[in-house]
Amino acid sequence: MPKPRRIAPSILAADFARLGSQVSEVVDAGARVIHVDIMDGHFVPPLSMGPQVLSALVELGLPGVEYDVHLMVERPERIVADFANAGASNITVHAEATPHVNYAVQQIREHGCTAGVAVCPSTPLDVYRELEVDLALCMTVNPGWGGQRFIAASPSKIERLRALLPDGAELEVDGGIDTSTAGLAADAGATLLVAGSALFGAPDPGQAYRDIAAAAGV
Ligand code: DX5
Ligand code: ZN
Repeated sequence: MPKPRRIAPSILAADFARLGSQVSEVVDAGARVIHVDIMDGHFVPPLSMGPQVLSALVELGLPGVEYDVHLMVERPERIVADFANAGASNITVHAEATPHVNYAVQQIREHGCTAGVAVCPSTPLDVYRELEVDLALCMTVNPGWGGQRFIAASPSKIERLRALLPDGAELEVDGGIDTSTAGLAADAGATLLVAGSALFGAPDPGQAYRDIAAAAGV
């Protein structure tokens, strides 16, 4: 069975001084997956946040809400436990960030989470032939920053990735998703669409959530 389409608001673009209320706004509008971007200053230049921020969100106790952790971190297998213990539902590691992707996936599952593997725009899709993932994340911008433009070649890569995955696997896209690109990504086979600045950068994030969801055919 293919997964239903969903939008995952990325808190990277939220107002960190009002993080709880911003997340509640998009949850009230219908969001059930919150995307949490972790950057280590090595795999990608910026630093973002650690597991304490995830714990604080989980402690809000928002019903039915899952936390999707995107580790843009070198040797991510070393910190999987911290994010699993903080309450992640899914943890995604980058194929480029460790020689031990299979081990990282094992660690994630052993800690009770679903396991995702991400690829940067220039990374070939071969890794998905070598291991089974619960979620494949196709970056549609270069990782590290919000607010970049959707890479135009992405839909054809998403289609090729969809063809490699079993029906039940989640295909996530991340970067530059807004009302003009959400439909392209969804039509190519994406089931989980991350949106950061188009959502939390909007004057009314709840309305922006509904507009992007409609554009994606959610
Ligand atoms: C980029 C992050 C994204 C980011 C997306 O490295 O992985 O999740 O928040 O931001 P937008 O939607 O602004 O491109
Ligand atoms: Zn992300």
